[in-house]
Amino acid sequence: MRQNRQKERLKVEQMLQRDNGQDIKLARAVAKFSDYCDEIESIFKESSTKSSGESRLQSAIIYIQNGETASALRRLIPLDVRKQAGMFFTSTEIAEKVAKRLSPLLKTGVDIFDPACGAGNLLVACCQYLPCGKSFYDTARIWSELMKGCDLFPEFIRAARLRLVITAANRHAKENINLGKINTESLFLGLKIGNAFSLGVAPSKCVVINPPFGYMTAPEDCRWGNGKIQIAGWFMERLLQMASEGQHLVAVLPDVLKSGTRYKRWRDMICSLVSKISIEPAGRFDADTDIDVFIIHLIASGGKKCSTKWPDILPTNKGLTTKVSDYFEIHVGSVVPHRDPIEGESYPYIHARTAVPWQTLERISERRRSIRKVFSPPFVVVHRTSSPSDKHRCVGSIVNESQEVAVENHLIVLLPKDGSLESCRRLLDSLMCPATDKWLNRRIRCRHLTVSALHDLPFYE
Ligand SMILES: C[S@@+](CC[C@H](N)C(=O)[O-])C[C@H]1O[C@@H](n2cnc3c(N)ncnc32)[C@H](O)[C@@H]1O
Repeated sequence: MRQNRQKERLKVEQMLQRDNGQDIKLARAVAKFSDYCDEIESIFKESSTKSSGESRLQSAIIYIQNGETASALRRLIPLDVRKQAGMFFTSTEIAEKVAKRLSPLLKTGVDIFDPACGAGNLLVACCQYLPCGKSFYDTARIWSELMKGCDLFPEFIRAARLRLVITAANRHAKENINLGKINTESLFLGLKIGNAFSLGVAPSKCVVINPPFGYMTAPEDCRWGNGKIQIAGWFMERLLQMASEGQHLVAVLPDVLKSGTRYKRWRDMICSLVSKISIEPAGRFDADTDIDVFIIHLIASGGKKCSTKWPDILPTNKGLTTKVSDYFEIHVGSVVPHRDPIEGESYPYIHARTAVPWQTLERISERRRSIRKVFSPPFVVVHRTSSPSDKHRCVGSIVNESQEVAVENHLIVLLPKDGSLESCRRLLDSLMCPATDKWLNRRIRCRHLTVSALHDLPFYE
């Protein structure tokens, strides 16, 4: 068995180099995850020497919970490797939300595919809705036929298969199954090592996915972005291109795809490939990963051109008809401090550290030479960095200097259309309102405010 695993590892290293241009160091670092698989297998073996199958099963169940698998990942694979490969396993809470979305279909016994299954967190969550047989072996056989998945790394596939076996055994806990006697190598063979896009897995009725988050260079034929793009966005496009008509796809995605201005064309692309979209904000990914995510449920059109509407999930502004952009022009500060040359005229200069929250700044002592656009006071600046956990999402200051001011690009500038200080004061009051935080938390959960979010922000009087 060990020799087989070494052969598999060599194949994976060759595949990673060939298909992904990834380095072998990455594959070797991930190989450490096999320690976790060995630990699960040792529970199986111990189980053959102990009399109470049920109590062994209970310790196995605890050991394979999503939290345990995620903590094994953190323990065995260094953070820089996990970040490089976008390896973050879904929490139980989010995995259950994904599974629940598909529950009516899963109960009817449709097949399900996770193209980047990792250690199987999403598939394990889906098991609770799958039909069962009369015995453990019946159930394991039924689920083996329904479950498909793939991942680049053999250690993850091995862990996913073992976890599914234990989950099936737990459905028949009363059978007092001897885990040690189960031939785990013959079950869940629909989970395969490989690249989701070259494996040629037959399309399933349901697809679940938590794709890698991170950035990649946009391929030349990418029509919705250029430069660095979200890998998760690219994964979704590829999956929808492969999808058959009526296929359900439920994905966990980073909030920036939902709210980022630069992903508007990505959203349009999704709308053109699906007949239905629903979205559910899912909060922070997990306690260790400071990124907000949402769950998207799509029904693929199978290549038919669609003009589905991206859902509007913003709170309705009852009785409110005005927006910040009705009264203010909105710009991003223009000075990029570490890149811009120190040349041109000298101006008072304001940046994130000197923009004291909620204050009116009348005499700015710091100056900087700049050839960039400068702004005429009075105006409001708000910090671009902003998190849903902050007391205020939109922290503002008024700039009321007598000269034009150079502004760093970590600040957003709001210029009153009527040029008055009074409008700036009214805006600060509006930004301080709890309703502003509530609205922004629905609209944008990533850690940067965007011009478009401020453009649409209601003006609370
Ligand atoms: C964010 S993790 C999600 C794992 C699992 N589905 C979950 O929810 O816990 C993404 C997984 O995608 C895998 N992956 C990345 N690129 C892949 C590709 N091209 N084909 C298959 N798997 C891939 C990574 O190895 C990683 O396990």
